[in-house]
Amino acid sequence: MFQSAALLAFSLAAVSYGQQVGTNTAETHPSLPFQTCTASGSCTTVQGKVVIDSNWRWVHGVGSTTNCYTGNTWDATLCPDDATCAANCALDGADYSGTYGITASGNGLTLKFVTQSANKNIGSRTYLMASDTQYQIFKLKNNEFTFDVDMSQLPCGLNGALYFVQMDADGGMSRFPTNKAGAKYGTGYCDSQCPRDIKFINGQANVQGWASSPNDTNAGTGNFGTCCAEMDIWEANSQAAAVTPHPCTVTQQTRCSGTTCGGTAGRYAGVCDPDGCDFNSWRMGNETFLGSGSGFTIDTTQKITVVTQFFTADNTSTGALSEIRRFYVQNGKVIPNSFSNVAGMTTQHNSISDNFCTAQKTAFGDTNSFSSNGGLVQMGTAMDAGMVLVMSVWDDHAVNMLWLDSDYPTTAPATQPGISRGPCATTSGVPATVEAQSPNAQVTYSNIKFGPIGSTFSSSGTGGSSPGTGNGTPPAGGSGGCSTAKYGQCGGIGEPHFV
Ligand SMILES: *[C@@H]1O[C@H](CO)[C@@H](O)[C@H](O)[C@H]1NC(C)=O
Ligand SMILES: *[C@@H]1O[C@H](CO)[C@@H](O)[C@H](O)[C@H]1NC(C)=O
Ligand SMILES: *[C@@H]1O[C@H](CO)[C@@H](O)[C@H](O)[C@H]1NC(C)=O
Repeated sequence: MFQSAALLAFSLAAVSYGQQVGTNTAETHPSLPFQTCTASGSCTTVQGKVVIDSNWRWVHGVGSTTNCYTGNTWDATLCPDDATCAANCALDGADYSGTYGITASGNGLTLKFVTQSANKNIGSRTYLMASDTQYQIFKLKNNEFTFDVDMSQLPCGLNGALYFVQMDADGGMSRFPTNKAGAKYGTGYCDSQCPRDIKFINGQANVQGWASSPNDTNAGTGNFGTCCAEMDIWEANSQAAAVTPHPCTVTQQTRCSGTTCGGTAGRYAGVCDPDGCDFNSWRMGNETFLGSGSGFTIDTTQKITVVTQFFTADNTSTGALSEIRRFYVQNGKVIPNSFSNVAGMTTQHNSISDNFCTAQKTAFGDTNSFSSNGGLVQMGTAMDAGMVLVMSVWDDHAVNMLWLDSDYPTTAPATQPGISRGPCATTSGVPATVEAQSPNAQVTYSNIKFGPIGSTFSSSGTGGSSPGTGNGTPPAGGSGGCSTAKYGQCGGIGEPHFV
């Protein structure tokens, strides 16, 4: 995924202490209970909470109300360099609903897209917490993660994302003692894009070399980026959805600098796989599987239960990650993921394995940065270390989310395998337009469950079905034209895309 953090500088009254801590607004984390299940299928409720990422927070002078950061620029006096800025500036508490449009109710969390208060907030990124000072750590291998999602209010151009990243559980406080804020204030974010729009990394500000974004009034990029492995369970709107592992060669949150971060200056120059290995049913050749309305197998106008299973080669939690399977449950029916139906892919797949990834990238002519960063086995090492659950909603100032829901790159014919990813127009997803036309867009995540494979879901009314086994049967018939294609012949043009 490619996420630009929005927001936001206030000019309210305050007292404080950059990563120091401000005390103008008390930090009260919204509750988000979730369940852990056992192999027998019994589930226990855990009293989780969520925290908003530090990038969205008001950053102001210690003991003053002077903004350290306003719009997309830093205050030159408080922030002459990275270290001084971190000592001078404090992250304040958040008014979750009033400022950011984040509300928790029962076992659900709703994230609104645009929230207008004294300032205008765009989107948000939140993390599940085990306590007020520690993120909840998940070990996904040989386990299953299930949640419900309502995407009916997410149009083209938006992304309601639920995913895991390998952040430090304490937000980086113990490894970087100049970070005084920690997980309580949502510090320590990293992902496989090695984002450079993060204001504080490794206990320092990212002010040196900061360039304000030309098209995002709330964002910019500094010299440093922050990298770590990312497992995208769900990047989706009402028109398209993708599940995407992104391994990294680094084994913990790691700061990068300049072009070695990859991304804009050399997409594949970094220590992570920026593209990942995505399974988007539309892109994989099934344009009726998921979409808005009763004509689709999975109808995004209604709540969807999304199940993701992480198999290992020997079916133990210590084995090598070998396959990621997806099921859906809707209206009491368990629905296996769709099968690929792509020219040039001779085997039909409905799960993610290294074989699937290689075949897909070959058919699409994409760079296989998934494989060069270690593929599923390396993704599994991040899972061994433990990962943090992220829930967000965002729009895309780089490429208008076309990589998720439209044709991308737009320079290639949409008929070429891998280019069409969803039904949205190539003119859709422009942030200014989406923000103006769909300010009330929102996503709700709820009913999170985690446990051994087969423990977190069932079909209703078919008692005794065993949901964790079997993965569906591929439809009979060939896989379309161009089935003998060699690399590139049927594939894409290999341009970077954001997955
Ligand atoms: C692991 O479990 C799956 C699903 O039950 C099964 O198909 C597979 O054969 C098992 N693999 C091993 C090595 O036991
Ligand atoms: C799409 O998926 C559905 C459900 O698995 C299936 O019935 C249908 O045949 C698939 N269509 C194509 C074109 O593969
Ligand atoms: C917005 O600016 C970024 C540079 O920060 C650039 O990479 C991107 O292409 C621009 N997006 C659009 C849609 O113009």
